[in-house]
Amino acid sequence: MLPRVILHNMVSVDGRTDWFTPDIGLYYEIASRFDEDAMLSGSNTILAMPMEEEKPEEADQIAEPPETGAGAARRLLVVVDSRGRVQNWQFLRKQPYWRDVVALCSGTTPQSQLEYLEREQVAYIVTGEEHVDLRAALEELNGRYGVQVVRVDSGGILNGLLLQAGLVDEVSVLIDPSLVGGTSPRSIFTAPDLASSEGVIGLKPMHLERFEGDVVWLRYEVAK
Ligand SMILES: NC(=O)c1ccc[n+]([C@@H]2O[C@H](COP(=O)([O-])OP(=O)(O)OC[C@H]3O[C@@H](n4cnc5c(N)ncnc54)[C@H](OP(=O)(O)O)[C@@H]3O)[C@@H](O)[C@H]2O)c1
Repeated sequence: MLPRVILHNMVSVDGRTDWFTPDIGLYYEIASRFDEDAMLSGSNTILAMPMEEEKPEEADQIAEPPETGAGAARRLLVVVDSRGRVQNWQFLRKQPYWRDVVALCSGTTPQSQLEYLEREQVAYIVTGEEHVDLRAALEELNGRYGVQVVRVDSGGILNGLLLQAGLVDEVSVLIDPSLVGGTSPRSIFTAPDLASSEGVIGLKPMHLERFEGDVVWLRYEVAK
């Protein structure tokens, strides 16, 4: 069975994820309301996270760990990492925000990375030939760990792949009162340009709320 998949992001009014100063506290307070069994991230998001004392130079820093508390006792951190770029699994595992970590790998994941994961006793799932087969991985998370709700904490690439594969049930956006501009594809939905309106994903509004600081929260069900 496929788990319910929720994308949760904070964006500027023009839908960008970079350069504005996000209210991280609010972002994760809202995230905690989803009470997910697993937080799913792309490897780029994990590699952009501040590790130990180090702070990244980038302004696009939303990917800090979520809250501790009851949810953390149950939540898994799951990372799509077919290239085996994530090398700090023990650091991630020690964080109090999730109960354990799982790597998603594919047929192209270097053997040395699989051996490293085995040595470090990091659970991993291998699906897909060149890249992780996201549908199969979600099914396996449900089958192996009973994951029923997944919150995706990621940038536009993983969001885009999940949306295009029809795997997303809900889109949650916190809109910061700012405009960033730019031409690079730093939005919450990265995908090839459409050639027609076919392919536009319809959304059904579920919730609208305004917070202090004029941040607006919008929740949508994905029309399927
Ligand atoms: N504003 C917000 O709310 C927010 C939230 C989270 C993150 N962020 C920011 O977003 C940025 C990172 O986002 P991003 O879009 O660059 O990357 P990302 O979504 O974090 O990572 C891309 C993921 O897609 C996987 N992938 C690529 N092609 C694939 C395919 N064909 N099939 C399956 N998987 C595939 C990659 O896997 P491999 O590793 O296997 O190649 C990688 O895990 C960071 O700067 C982060 O701070 C913003």
